[in-house]
Amino acid sequence: MKKQELATPAVLVDLDILEKNMKKYQELCNKHGKELWPMTKTHKSTEIAKMQKAFGATGFLGGTLDECEAFCDAGMETIMYAYPAASQPNLSRVIALAQKCHFIIRLDCMENARAISEAAAQAGVTVNYTIIVDSGLHRFGVAPEKVADFANALRELPALCFKGISGHPGHVYGAQNHSELAKYVADEKNAMAAAAAALKEAGFALEIVSSGSTPTFAGSIADENIKIYHPGNYVFHDAIQLSIEAAEEAECALTIYATIISKPREDMFIIDAGSKCFGLDQGAHGNSSISGFGRVKGHPQLSLVGLSEEVGKLKIQGETQLKVGDKIEIIPNHSCVPANLTSFLVGCRQDNVEKTLAVDIRENSKNPVPEK
Ligand SMILES: Cc1ncc(COP(=O)(O)O)c(C=O)c1O
Repeated sequence: MKKQELATPAVLVDLDILEKNMKKYQELCNKHGKELWPMTKTHKSTEIAKMQKAFGATGFLGGTLDECEAFCDAGMETIMYAYPAASQPNLSRVIALAQKCHFIIRLDCMENARAISEAAAQAGVTVNYTIIVDSGLHRFGVAPEKVADFANALRELPALCFKGISGHPGHVYGAQNHSELAKYVADEKNAMAAAAAALKEAGFALEIVSSGSTPTFAGSIADENIKIYHPGNYVFHDAIQLSIEAAEEAECALTIYATIISKPREDMFIIDAGSKCFGLDQGAHGNSSISGFGRVKGHPQLSLVGLSEEVGKLKIQGETQLKVGDKIEIIPNHSCVPANLTSFLVGCRQDNVEKTLAVDIRENSKNPVPEK
């Protein structure tokens, strides 16, 4: 089937680009003797995770317990959960994962550590953990100078097993351009180095020093402390990565395929894809370099200036041969959102539809009420 025969809207993934992105990041890790444990909230697809494994990923970082469980069921061996858990039934899910695979959770305060330790002690298991280091995002995390004290305090919790430290320099998305990336790479490297040094000084052995984001990946891959990298968005890239030149248009694998369904004014097209396809992201953490809601491939004179739920407004600024009925591809601002707003990604190679990729671990797609 040809792409042009697809019903719109559809979320397309160019398989050649997807594979190239996976290969590029894996090869950089291999070249520097690092491990790639990708963050999987970007795609939420067991099939794409399997592709990452085939390219050489040796672990995964799940953004949800659903992701961790799906990968465990699919036979992945090493799975890290990006966040702490603090209530039932999620504590039990953590324990079950610890019993089934090489599982590591991340902790950053006594309360979440105690909750997990108590659940683990009750089940008679030990749960591996890393301490989250705050490398500048100021979301989760312990300041590097306080990490050794925290690790010492956690010694009193016998059902937990210290493995090392993890970070995520997500504040990099506040960068306005490529030249600002170096500052965030330095934050990432310095925070992890300071935390690692303090822990070694306090007598802790660090099996895991892990960190990562797509925009800081190239700058921090040769770091001497970080051993495991967790980029996520790199598989698809998007208009946010383009805005900070962390990727080129030819590296953007995911697009929204839409039809121009109206030309109500001389300078306006309406397309049949809206916020329920694109999401409303326009950058995070103070990024103001994004304008509009996506980049129309091959038509720079069109700007996606507005989104309602089902339709979008394209402002025409210049000559265009496009007309009502034509189909266009738009690179979304933040590809992780559309990937979570569809159950099927349409995998294409150029104009040919090759297969669909199931987004089988979509957020809130699992019935939370246990079946009787
Ligand atoms: C904890 C954590 N690690 C890694 C990532 C991957 O970052 P990116 O999507 O920039 O590659 C994320 C993304 O939000 C994250 O929250």
